[in-house]
Amino acid sequence: MAARAEDIATPNIDELFRPTHDERARQSFVSMLRKHAIIDLRAAVRRHYESEVAPALRARGAEPATWRDIERVMEPDPLHRLYSTLRYNAQEMCYLSVQPAIERALPEMIDLARDLATHNPAGGTLRLNPQFEIPRYLHALDVHLAPGWVTAEHTEDDVAQGAVVGFGGKVFTGQHPYRKRPGVVAESIAHWIQRTRPGFTPRRILDLGTTAGKNLLPYKSAFPQSEAHGIDCGAPVLRYGHALAEHEGIAVHFSQQNAERTDFPDGHFDLIVSSFFLHEIPLKATRNVLRECHRLLSPGGLMVHMELPDASSVSEYDNFFWNWDTHNNNEPFYTNYREQDPLRLCEEAGFLPADAFKLTIPDAASFGEERYARFLKGELPAPPHGSGGWFIFGAERRG
Ligand SMILES: C[S@@+](CC[C@H](N)C(=O)[O-])C[C@H]1O[C@@H](n2cnc3c(N)ncnc32)[C@H](O)[C@@H]1O
Repeated sequence: MAARAEDIATPNIDELFRPTHDERARQSFVSMLRKHAIIDLRAAVRRHYESEVAPALRARGAEPATWRDIERVMEPDPLHRLYSTLRYNAQEMCYLSVQPAIERALPEMIDLARDLATHNPAGGTLRLNPQFEIPRYLHALDVHLAPGWVTAEHTEDDVAQGAVVGFGGKVFTGQHPYRKRPGVVAESIAHWIQRTRPGFTPRRILDLGTTAGKNLLPYKSAFPQSEAHGIDCGAPVLRYGHALAEHEGIAVHFSQQNAERTDFPDGHFDLIVSSFFLHEIPLKATRNVLRECHRLLSPGGLMVHMELPDASSVSEYDNFFWNWDTHNNNEPFYTNYREQDPLRLCEEAGFLPADAFKLTIPDAASFGEERYARFLKGELPAPPHGSGGWFIFGAERRG
């Protein structure tokens, strides 16, 4: 479909976010505070544990054996408490710091999203369901400490949470608000698929828990002939994502659906992906989602989820670090999810054990082609998850 001249001239919905000088300064401060907590203090806490706490306990014959033992010892520790307090507060402030500028821009953002949803200049679609039942696990608490997370709506055609989660996320990762960055996870998974499965050309791709589609759009660049679908429970984030994609000229089909049971026909997709999704839902829902993936995949299709590394893939100390979010970041299913074996979950969902995989892949943008070739030959490991690598698991559907 040809784009209208006025669509090209209108700003991207993201450009309506115009923080004042002071708001921008606050956002920069919060980014730096969070970085200080998650990088510098995290490393200092680890050094303190390894060089002082653990040796002292070892000398008394009481060295912690499991991550829960480490947690018991470290929770009252003053350095750990400082780290934990700063990290919690910085996380909360990421979202709070972007709210005033979004409130000012909201009427314009809503108008723009409405207009693009009416005209669909890029040929994508937005399908919302006014009767949709939001699962309790999504609205009973502010996931990630983001007020309203992805589902709260306070006015008609509300897009505010799309902006709050998007810009709050940029403060969280320390990105400039207007710097366009592709979804690095999708980019990395697409890169890996292209190099390990040359000739794989999915006709239809589905991203589960897509939010505003950040980690869906790069699949359209990697597989331009494909039809891309993204589903989520949150109407505001889907409206926002649709407005972004349409303005970028990328045809994506967004729909408000529960990934535990969708309305797509059997075998409809050749590639099903997700990122940062499964650890946020109860285990029963994760099992339903994986069974749904099995139903939706065509023969020869591929499912790839980027997720937190499971507990058995990392050290007890790293489990202590990763599981912090369970109690401190409103992500109550985190520990339970990580205690599962992803390969076993795939098998329970109907995939053959021989067709399931789990591994850490390099971040495509930062690793470089030469090192990537060595990674593929098994000569070089990928960096750890979250530090230059991404943990993925999934399966192929044979028959
Ligand atoms: C952390 S966000 C995912 C971020 C996104 N995939 C990305 O990479 O930018 C988790 C998303 O999963 C969605 N979600 C949670 N439960 C869901 C379900 N049962 N069906 C569909 N989406 C769900 C949430 O609404 C939220 O947008």
